[in-house]
Amino acid sequence: MSASLSRRSLLALAAGSLAAPRARAAAGAKLKIGLLLPFSGTYAALGVNIADAMKLAAREHGGKLGGREIEWVQVDDESDPAKAPGNVNRLVVGEKVDILTGPVHSGVAMAMMQIVRQEKTLTIVTNAGAQAVTGTLCAPNVFRTSFSNWQVSYPCAEVMLKAGHKKAILMFWNYSFGQESMAAFKEGYSKGGGSIVKEIAVPFPNTEFQANLSEIASLKPDAVFVFFAGAGAAKFVKDYADAGLKGKIPLYGSGFLTEGVLGAAGPAAEGIKTTLHYAETLDNPANKKFREAFKKATARDADVYAVAGWDTIQALAQALDKVKGDTGAQKELIAALESVRLDSPRGAFRFSKAHNPVQDIYLRQVKGGQQVVLGVAQKGAEDPAAGCNLGK
Ligand code: PHB
Repeated sequence: MSASLSRRSLLALAAGSLAAPRARAAAGAKLKIGLLLPFSGTYAALGVNIADAMKLAAREHGGKLGGREIEWVQVDDESDPAKAPGNVNRLVVGEKVDILTGPVHSGVAMAMMQIVRQEKTLTIVTNAGAQAVTGTLCAPNVFRTSFSNWQVSYPCAEVMLKAGHKKAILMFWNYSFGQESMAAFKEGYSKGGGSIVKEIAVPFPNTEFQANLSEIASLKPDAVFVFFAGAGAAKFVKDYADAGLKGKIPLYGSGFLTEGVLGAAGPAAEGIKTTLHYAETLDNPANKKFREAFKKATARDADVYAVAGWDTIQALAQALDKVKGDTGAQKELIAALESVRLDSPRGAFRFSKAHNPVQDIYLRQVKGGQQVVLGVAQKGAEDPAAGCNLGK
């Protein structure tokens, strides 16, 4: 963002001279959708898949939502929370997007929340699992199509305990998602009688894991539960095997550990069990159609990140049809989003009262280079949404 644009925009904001949302939704005007996503860095592949799936879904709707042609405005957020306020303002204040989507990184999402709560921009979070998005900072104008970190981490505790793993080491990237993911896991693990041998926090996005892996080998826990994602997850899975731990100390995590990284991780990923709200092998017609369309359009295999992008557009398509594309009718548009029901590639999808998906969490295992579904770890998982009261 140019510094002058941001200053000008902020001055305009202060003077209260920005157009109200209703005035912006001029009849026949293009629907501006902002994408705040990482297109560089360790989460780049995640951002690309979300964006590509959104655009693919939009093409399937004839390039229009609610009768309005779409104009995409995308910003590379670099998964950098420090740059997030500037990047969000560039889309919200500078570009005046009708709808803001993204990000991947929870720290970026926290900065985004501060601004969109104030500006009342209709926002759909397409990955970041930060609890506050649909918890303490929840807002009528903010929805999430992905997950909360509690949803994908808590159920893994019972899975590990059932397998007889009573002593675990936790290892994670040390920012909000990793911290909250570990807290959710520990809640379930200690309830079921498990104990934590050691917590290893790694600065994001560092991938120097060797010293920590030696420590894990010497401490000999029953199992290890981790949060890493994207390129860092592929490196971790390979390093774990190279350190001789694979086959000796079972490795678990929320599904991001193996999602979208099987090609890069290769045989090192075989056998790893994870919990997530999606698996590529889910046998339902919506998943089949989605995966075929994504492969055809991108020559890549779809993953959980692409699912969130796809569903974001499906949800918007349903809701915008109801209000005939009038994003200025925000109250009605929010009500329409709240009543969205999707036949998602992940299974049945609806928003909770806090605007987070209510969804099944699957136990998956990597077998033959694929995520095979072993069962449902938690049926209809609904985030506790602590601290959220949208008055319903
Ligand atoms: C997050 O920061 O919320 C996050 C990032 C990458 C993932 C999952 C969650 O794969």
